[in-house]
Amino acid sequence: MSIDAIYNRRSIRKFLKKDVSIDIIQQLIDSGRVAPSAKNRQPWKYIVFGNEHKQELLQNMETGIFREENNQSLLPNSTSGISDAKNTLRIMKEAPIIIMVINTNGKSPFCEINADDRITEICDTLSIGASIENILLKATELELGTLWIANTCFAYSELTNYLNIVNQLVGAIAVGYPDEQPLPRPRKAIEDIIEYRI
Ligand SMILES: Cc1cc2nc3c(=O)[nH]c(=O)nc-3n(C[C@H](O)[C@H](O)[C@H](O)COP(=O)(O)O)c2cc1C
Repeated sequence: MSIDAIYNRRSIRKFLKKDVSIDIIQQLIDSGRVAPSAKNRQPWKYIVFGNEHKQELLQNMETGIFREENNQSLLPNSTSGISDAKNTLRIMKEAPIIIMVINTNGKSPFCEINADDRITEICDTLSIGASIENILLKATELELGTLWIANTCFAYSELTNYLNIVNQLVGAIAVGYPDEQPLPRPRKAIEDIIEYRI
């Protein structure tokens, strides 16, 4: 894979009405499969949604966001993120493919956690992040657009019930052919993120 993909990747929030083949999805997930992981635990699972299955999935996400906003908020300190979650949901409706990302070792974020388990969870989350980034870079190389999504958290219980999983829902990846070419988003300067002690 070309290193160019690292610099050319963008979050894509507009997608063409064009299907993504199963062969391509398989190539994307295969890039995720070979990522490094803590103790080689490979704590990832990817569930791929399209067509009416995707619609059903997103109906559940919509129900969750509505509940979060109107009834029983499970994330009362994050209400300022709800409008962003609605925007993300709109983008997910437009994308032909949504890949749900599961931590197969993880528990619900609403469970108590001790320090040992938190360290394990941090390592597994990092491993899954590496796997997701591989997928995004492979997609960039194949001229697909992707969006890495964490706003699924606003519908955590609805989505995990619908997926029928007891493990941790980490987030989602929207995949499709891009209908925009965003400029690079701002980044911190290299001197602001590096400290040499050599
Ligand atoms: C863990 C994670 C979660 C994200 N969740 C969302 C999301 O729910 N909705 C969204 O529109 N963008 C989401 N993004 C995309 C970021 O907003 C984006 O990466 C950042 O603004 C930089 O833009 P770029 O990806 O084009 O370089 C997420 C990115 C990461 C890494």
